[in-house]
Amino acid sequence: MVKKKTCVFISGKGSNLKNLIIRSRDNIFPVKISLIICNNKKAYGVNYAKKYKIPYIIVNTSARLYENKILFYLKKYKISFICLAGYMRIISKNLIKHYQKKIINIHPSLLPKFKGLNTFSRMIKNDEIKAGCTVHYVNEKLDSGSTIIQKPFYINQNDDEKTLKTKTQKLEYKALPESIIKIFRNT
Ligand code: GAR
Repeated sequence: MVKKKTCVFISGKGSNLKNLIIRSRDNIFPVKISLIICNNKKAYGVNYAKKYKIPYIIVNTSARLYENKILFYLKKYKISFICLAGYMRIISKNLIKHYQKKIINIHPSLLPKFKGLNTFSRMIKNDEIKAGCTVHYVNEKLDSGSTIIQKPFYINQNDDEKTLKTKTQKLEYKALPESIIKIFRNT
């Protein structure tokens, strides 16, 4: 099996990235993490690029034409699949056009509920019964592309933002690799 050359975009802690790197070392996992793009030079996740010796670039999203730099490196590393794992920027229409149905995102809610930021505080405020995560394709609208996998759990009375995040991320570490396997199952 030829593994798809994949780029992971991050902005912060990178725990999903770390999990993916480890899963992708399995011979039968369909993708290889060939490049990491980060828009925050202080992000802890960059350490995983260094630790696992994966090429990475830091982009300054306030620079003009920064996406040209991204496209340049995606091409240079022959990237055919993109995974947004805690990347807190909106991807431009141009990039989406280049990678139609080839960009996925992990989001910490049961979409279409709670698109955008601060998902956990809004869930608590809303007295939600369930929380969870969603892996979906990326399209031009925020957190709106078709769902690949969703993993729910019931919220306890004692849950707060911190426990919701921990429980959600535990499910994310399953949902993201499972989604990638599902996508490439028949290829
Ligand atoms: C993840 O929980 C992911 O769902 C969320 O950021 C976290 C990144 O954690 N993404 C979003 O909120 C996107 N809107 P990580 O850096 O430890 O993987």
